[in-house]
Amino acid sequence: MRTLIAYASKTGTTAKAAHLLGEKLQDVTLRDLTSGSPNPDDYDMIIMGSSIRMGLLHKAARKWLTDNWNAVKQKQYAFFICNGFIDQAPQIIQSNFSEEALQGAVCADSFGGEMDYKKLKGMDRFVTKMVMNDRKGKGQDFLPCILTDRIQIFADTLKGKQ
Ligand SMILES: Cc1cc2nc3c(=O)[nH]c(=O)nc-3n(C[C@H](O)[C@H](O)[C@H](O)COP(=O)(O)O)c2cc1C
Repeated sequence: MRTLIAYASKTGTTAKAAHLLGEKLQDVTLRDLTSGSPNPDDYDMIIMGSSIRMGLLHKAARKWLTDNWNAVKQKQYAFFICNGFIDQAPQIIQSNFSEEALQGAVCADSFGGEMDYKKLKGMDRFVTKMVMNDRKGKGQDFLPCILTDRIQIFADTLKGKQ
């Protein structure tokens, strides 16, 4: 079964997570949605991954899914996000994908995220610091990371459909 992992990332975490997932599946093609628009009809299974900023999917992921939804929904498909605050993930997933899209998905989950100040500049760095400080004040000052156990569970669920 030909499987597409199409991802959009700002600072590299979603790309990293997409590659970790790809290593666990057979016959995978990885495509970066910020530099191209793969045709879902070339694949049997579609996985779309996106980073989250300000509660929203990456623009390239949102556009690709909107443009290709009619083709994607004919296939087996799944979604993942990478976001910093794992407790927000269920709500972020629900607000970024339609009810129809979530009902038809094999699975949809967050693989966690990373917050690396060195990769951020200007306003992004400022906002991230503010948010992290706010959470520190609430006793939630742990740094996020990629949740490899979730990637494994996601891959195992998909393998059952491959
Ligand atoms: C400006 C900015 C806004 C963010 N907004 C959110 C958010 O609303 N919710 C969340 O859970 N994480 C948020 N994050 C954390 C990112 O989702 C996290 O760093 C993720 O790993 C980024 O993925 P990427 O490296 O693929 O771009 C934000 C990060 C930045 C820099």
